[in-house]
Amino acid sequence: MFFVNIDTTPELVSNVYSKIKENIAKYRKVVGRPLTLTEKILSGHLYEIPDNTIAGGKDYVFLKPDRVALQDVTGQMVMLQFMQAGLKQSALPTTVHCDHLIRAEVQGDVDMKVSLDENSEVFKFLQSAAAKHGCGFWKPGAGIIHQVVLENYAFPGGLMIGTDSHTPNAGGLGMIAVGVGGLDAAETMAGLPWELLYPKKIGVKLTGELNGWTAPKDIILKVAEELTVSGGTNSIVEYFGPGTKSISCTGKATITNMGAEIGATCSIFPYDERMETYLKYTNREKIAELANQNKELLVADPEIESNPENFFDQIIEINLSALEPHIVGPHTPDLARSISELGDDVKSNDYIDPISVALIGSCTNSSYEDMSRVASIAKQAKEKGIKSKIPLLITPGSEQIRGTIERDGQMDSLKEIGATVLANACGPCIGQWNRPELKNEEKNTIVTTFNRNFPGRNDGHRNTLNFIGSPEMIIALALGGKLSFNPLKDELTASDGTKFKLDPPKPAPEVPENGFKIPEGIFIAPPENSDDVEVIIDPNSKRLQLLEPFSKWNGQDFVDLPILVKAKGKCTTDHISPAGAWLSLRGHLDNLSDNMLLGAVNAFNDEVGKGKNILNNQLESFSKIARQFKEKQMRWVIIGDNNYGEGSSREHAAMSPRYLGCAAVITKSLARIHETNLKKQGILALTFSNPDDYEKILEDDKISLLKLNELEPHKQVKCIISHNDGNTDEILLNHSYNKSQIEWFKAGSALNVLRNR
Ligand code: F3S
Repeated sequence: MFFVNIDTTPELVSNVYSKIKENIAKYRKVVGRPLTLTEKILSGHLYEIPDNTIAGGKDYVFLKPDRVALQDVTGQMVMLQFMQAGLKQSALPTTVHCDHLIRAEVQGDVDMKVSLDENSEVFKFLQSAAAKHGCGFWKPGAGIIHQVVLENYAFPGGLMIGTDSHTPNAGGLGMIAVGVGGLDAAETMAGLPWELLYPKKIGVKLTGELNGWTAPKDIILKVAEELTVSGGTNSIVEYFGPGTKSISCTGKATITNMGAEIGATCSIFPYDERMETYLKYTNREKIAELANQNKELLVADPEIESNPENFFDQIIEINLSALEPHIVGPHTPDLARSISELGDDVKSNDYIDPISVALIGSCTNSSYEDMSRVASIAKQAKEKGIKSKIPLLITPGSEQIRGTIERDGQMDSLKEIGATVLANACGPCIGQWNRPELKNEEKNTIVTTFNRNFPGRNDGHRNTLNFIGSPEMIIALALGGKLSFNPLKDELTASDGTKFKLDPPKPAPEVPENGFKIPEGIFIAPPENSDDVEVIIDPNSKRLQLLEPFSKWNGQDFVDLPILVKAKGKCTTDHISPAGAWLSLRGHLDNLSDNMLLGAVNAFNDEVGKGKNILNNQLESFSKIARQFKEKQMRWVIIGDNNYGEGSSREHAAMSPRYLGCAAVITKSLARIHETNLKKQGILALTFSNPDDYEKILEDDKISLLKLNELEPHKQVKCIISHNDGNTDEILLNHSYNKSQIEWFKAGSALNVLRNR
C-alpha cells in the first residue's frame, strides 16, 4: 500500500517548479515566442510536450494535476464511482470538504447541530471513504471548500481540479484550478492523466487602482457584463497589468471564483507581493520563499504585457480608477449596471424596490478583508444609532475566518447592527435556506455577495430576484433597505433625525495584524494504513446507493427516439438537477432522479418541469415520463437552447438523464463542464450545426441519429427529424468527441472504460 501526503509540502512545490521549468524550456522551443502565464503552468503540467503549438479550443491535452478537492455533495458520487471502479488509494493529494449540506435557517450553532444530525449518515460515509482511499477529511463547520483550499493548499503555479464549479477560486493564489465532474476527479485520483480541451486565452488588462466604494467584486461583475455567461467558454482568463497589484490575494480569489459565471475554464493572476503576504500569514513561508525564487515561472513573459494583442485571443481592458460599483441580476450574473444606474433600472423594469434580505459571505466574498470592510460600514451605522433595515445574514467562509473576526471585533460590529451569523458553510448560496414567510410565491428582492442568481437557487422560490454586488455595497443596501438606494449619493437618517451619508469603507487589512486564529479539531488526516477501514453504507439507505454500471452501446443507430423535453432559454445544471432539498439525495441516484429537469422550461407549452407524455397524452413531470420510457426500454432525447448546462459542475445533471434512459442531448450550444459530464456518462453530446434547426423540432417529433458506428472526431452526425404529419427534416449535428471520448460512448460510460482497465 502506498501513502500520499495530502499537504502541499515545500517538497511537492519544489518538484512542481522543477517540472514546470523543464517543460517550459521545451515548449518555448516548440512555439518560438514568449509565453503567457497560462501557457507556462499548463505546459508545465503536460505529460508530454507536443511537437507543435497546442491550438486553444481545438486540441485536447493530458495533464498531471497536483491536487484534487471534493465537496460533500458531488464528492459522494466521486467516492461511489471510485469504489465502483475497484480503486484503492488516491494517487495524489485529495481532500473532502463538508460544506454544502449545512442548513441556514436560524443561526450558526443551531443550524450546525441540526445539520450534523440529519446528514450524519452521509458525513460518516464520506469520512470513512476518505480514510479508506487516502484522502483528508474536513469536518462540517470547517468551512467552504474554496476558502479552506485557499488557506491551506493552493499555491502559485499549481494545477488543481475540484468537483465544484468555483474551484477556480484558487486562481487568486496563482493556481490553475478547474471545476470538473466527479468522474474526472475519480480518474485523476486513480492516477490517470486528466484530459482537457486546451483553452483559448482571454487577457484582462487592469490599469489604475481600486478606490472608494469599488471592490474586487466589481471587476468580475464588469467582466461578466462584457463577456456574458458564455463568453469565457473553453477559455482561461488571465489578468495582467499594473492594476493587479492593487488587489489583495483574497480579492483576486473573488474575481477568479466568479470567472465560473462567464463559463471560463478558470481564471488566473500572476504571482506578486500580495500573494506572498497571504502565504506568509497562512503559515506557508517556505512556499512563499520557493515562489519568490521561481518568480519567472509564475508570471507571464515581459513581452506579453507590452504586446498583449499578439498573444491573447481576446483582450478586455479595465481602468480600476474609473470603475464604478456594479450590481448584477436578477436571474443572471451578466445583467449588470453601475450603482448609479440601478435606481432607473428598478423603475423601468418594475423590480421590487424594498429588499427582503441581505446576505453577505459565501466562497466568493468572505475573506478577512471583506469582513473588515463591511464591519467598517457597520461601525458608521452604529455610531449614528441605526441598524440594518432588513434581515442581514453573514456566512463566514471558514472557521479560521469566523474565529479571527470574532477575536478582532468585526463580528461584534456586524451583530450590533442586527446581523445574524450563519454556519461556516454554503448555506443560502446553495438553497439550504428556509423562508417560510414566502407563502404565496410572491415576488421579492434579495441582495447578496454570492456568485449565482439563477431563479430558485437560494431559497427554492423562482420569484425571488437576487441582485449580486460587493460586500460593501450589499451592507450599504441593507442599511438603505431599498434596491434603488445609492450610498454614493443618497443619505440615511440617523437615530437623532439628522441626515448623513456613509463614508466609503476604510482600506482594510488583507490579513490580520495578529495572524489568523488557527482552529483545532476540524480536520482528519487519512491513516497510513487503511486496510481495516470499512466504508459505511447502509444497504437500506435512502440517501446512499452503490452504483451499477450503465449498459454499453449496442452498436445500433438511435432510431425514432421521443423528445422528453425541448428546453427553452436558460437551462442550467440547477434546472436539470435542482439543489435545495434535493441535495440530501446526491448519493442515491435512483431517488435523486425524481428531480430531473424540474426547473426546465418546456418550449412547447412554457410549463416548468413538465411535458406531454406520449404514452398517455397527459402532462407529467419529466422524471415520471422518463421512468415510464425506461420501463419500456425506450431511449429518448433532450433538446436544449444556448449554453445548455451552464452553472455548476454537478454530474448528476448528466447521470440522472443517463440513468433514466437519455440517449442524446442536442442543443444550440453546450456549457463546457456539462458537455464533458454528458460524454463521460455515455450520453451523446451534440449541437445543431445550424442553430436555427432548433426551431424545426416539434412536440411529437421523433429523432433518429444515424451511422453512429462511423462516429469520428470532427465528423458531423446525421439526424432525421420525423414529424407527426409524415414529413421529415434532415439536419447535421456537430460534436467535439475525440477518439478516447468515443470509446466512453461505446463502453456506456467513461467509468466502464476505467473499470475495464
Ligand atoms: Fe458553496 Fe455557493 Fe461557493 S454553494 S462552494 S458557497 S458557490
